[in-house]
Amino acid sequence: MTRISFPADFYWGAATAAHQIEGGNTTSDWWYKEHLQPPRVETPSGDACDSYHRYREDMKLLADAGLTMYRFSIEWARVEPAPGEYSFAQRAHYGRMIEAAREYGLEPMVTLHHFTLPQWLERAGGWLAPGAIDRFEAYVAFCLPILDNVTWICTINEPNMMAIMARMDADRAAGNVDLRAAGLPEPSVPVARVLRAAHERVVDLLHSRSSSRQKQVGWSVATQAFQALPGAEEATRSYGYPRDAWFIEQAARDDWIGIQAYTRTQVGVDGPLPVPESAEKTLTGWEYYPHALAEGIQLSATYAPGVPIFVTENGIATDDDNRRIDYVMEALRGLAQARRAGIVILGYLYWSLLDNYEWGSYRPTFGLVGVDRQTFERIPRPSLEWLGSIAQTGGFDA
Ligand code: BGC
Repeated sequence: MTRISFPADFYWGAATAAHQIEGGNTTSDWWYKEHLQPPRVETPSGDACDSYHRYREDMKLLADAGLTMYRFSIEWARVEPAPGEYSFAQRAHYGRMIEAAREYGLEPMVTLHHFTLPQWLERAGGWLAPGAIDRFEAYVAFCLPILDNVTWICTINEPNMMAIMARMDADRAAGNVDLRAAGLPEPSVPVARVLRAAHERVVDLLHSRSSSRQKQVGWSVATQAFQALPGAEEATRSYGYPRDAWFIEQAARDDWIGIQAYTRTQVGVDGPLPVPESAEKTLTGWEYYPHALAEGIQLSATYAPGVPIFVTENGIATDDDNRRIDYVMEALRGLAQARRAGIVILGYLYWSLLDNYEWGSYRPTFGLVGVDRQTFERIPRPSLEWLGSIAQTGGFDA
């Protein structure tokens, strides 16, 4: 048996996103999309985990288990429910969350945008609406007072997935959706560029203001572990580059980069292949592939060399908590190996603290903690205690 060890200042925690756990996010674009007829989603988000009211309970669970960081997001749609109409009460709510995290001894990492937009902005064209970047900057400027006590800020979660979803929406509107196609469409280039500009604007804003805590700002990229079948190396590079590597490259001057990883995609000369029938699949239908994290880290070291990495999401949707522990242990083994090879990695945040709203469904259960869908009772799983003990002891035997 070997001991896998991590430094004492390594952050250990879990991540969530407002729309997926708060409930009642009625002014967001997703709420609107969840209620379209005919339905586009299996279930609307509804009350989610009622974390809007129960966030203290959530943070306490995390802290009691021994974890040291909580990543959560501020919901722009709540803070600015109508254009230019800012809610001081909602801002104060998120300010209380930040203070509660500190009270429990958790370092907060705050995401400013995690997939959802205010409905009014979506109606005006989403990220391609005229002035969208100014709007984003103005929303963040309004939030500055509550961010004073925050060091770690993630501007935009998975800009690559945002640009891919924008492309899917455009294809759907044009009637061009091929539901049988494997893989993801290419990200919308105009959306990708706007997201990069929005990110840069907010990075500058956060760095230019004096604050009691020096800001560490980055964005998080969904890495896909694209793997070439023999002879498909070039096809894989050109398929993968616009889908994840380009977004990593844009982080070259950032304080850190968020790497998120779940599974892999194998690519042949004609493009991506479906998950093989024989492969073990998780509740999202993705291949069980814990090595994805090590590959995401390597991709980051290649395309943004020297930029410190934060694993801002990694996890598995399963109803077998032992399999969750296996998955994380294997992913951490790869992470530790990357550290030994000299790659700087600052922390590991499991996705997700709670069984949450998985963008259309509650079936894929990622949580270290289960949630009763009617009483909202939290049901901690053994994996929570297991990850907390790694945080406390600084490693594990493998
Ligand atoms: C997203 C999360 C999502 C998770 C699992 C990531 O793409 O940031 O919002 O729930 O993957 O699907």
